[in-house]
Amino acid sequence: MKKPLLNADCIKLFEKALEWELTHFYMYKLLANKCQMLGYFGAQAYFLAESGEEETHYQKHVDFLNDEGVLAKLPILAPEKDTAISSLYKAIEMAYNNELELLEYYREMYKEEVMEYPEVAVHLNFFLDTQREAVGFYGDIISMFESEKDNPNICMVIDHKLKKLA
Ligand SMILES: [Fe+2]
Repeated sequence: MKKPLLNADCIKLFEKALEWELTHFYMYKLLANKCQMLGYFGAQAYFLAESGEEETHYQKHVDFLNDEGVLAKLPILAPEKDTAISSLYKAIEMAYNNELELLEYYREMYKEEVMEYPEVAVHLNFFLDTQREAVGFYGDIISMFESEKDNPNICMVIDHKLKKLA
């Protein structure tokens, strides 16, 4: 029988990480649906693709835990946090805030586990890179909104950009 190679505290941190990734999987579906309702079909496509990415992040943790002899526990997700997404800007802002919070979570997790479990640190490198890129990307979009706040077409420009990246 496989024996767990990680201690209970470390497993708890992974369980929270699984919850984060699945929460983002759902959040991007929510943002996609909202953008569809608002007529931003590029953003809808982008967020749907992001949702798919989040599922792969979740699975990466599951596979890592399996290698470490730990069965991933499926989290119970909290109910939808904020459905007051009334604009493309609000949708981007929600994505930015959530990705930043998760970057901060992985930074802390890395610091806590790096000495005892170097392989956890190696595993987390991918997640730190992914979070940094996501925060950077949504931060750039927020900058575009701010620089072009007098441009009445800025939402459609950004929607078009997102469509190309989806
Ligand atoms: Fe993710």
